[in-house]
Amino acid sequence: MSRHIITLIVLPFIMMLTSSCSKEVSFAKDVQPILQNNCAECHVKGKKGQQESGLSLESYAELMKGTKFGPVIVKGSSVSSTLSRLIGHKADKSINMPHDKQRISIDEIELINTWIDQGAKNN
Ligand code: HEC
Repeated sequence: MSRHIITLIVLPFIMMLTSSCSKEVSFAKDVQPILQNNCAECHVKGKKGQQESGLSLESYAELMKGTKFGPVIVKGSSVSSTLSRLIGHKADKSINMPHDKQRISIDEIELINTWIDQGAKNN
């Protein structure tokens, strides 16, 4: 068999592999559980984080509404999103999230950023 034929056979498999890496991140299945585990204790109605910032993380609609100052997510751009800066601990030490705690894992931060970059859909 010539090398050309081998390339033709192998190429579709490589393409399948790379496309599965950029799999769509789901809000309900991937993002919401992270917020639930790491943020909800302070960001539900009546708790400190929600009271002070206005940000409730109980639903997609509330997350997208943001704080009393406005949205914290820019659909399609994690680098422009306040939320990403805070969870990635790129903001001032006093406002990084979660407060007074270890940051969420790199994998979790990546997942949320990918979800935002994919358009922050209610999927
Ligand atoms: C231990 C309590 C606590 C936890 C846990 C927590 N927050 Fe907060 N959050 C606060 C408080 C209090 C504020 C009010 C503003 C401040 O003190 O920075 C706030 C404010 C915010 C703001 C608005 C910041 C601004 O400058 O407008 C965002 C966005 C935010 N939190 C996101 C999150 C996310 C996402 C998580 C989970 C990864 C999280 N928080 C976990 C307490 C918490």
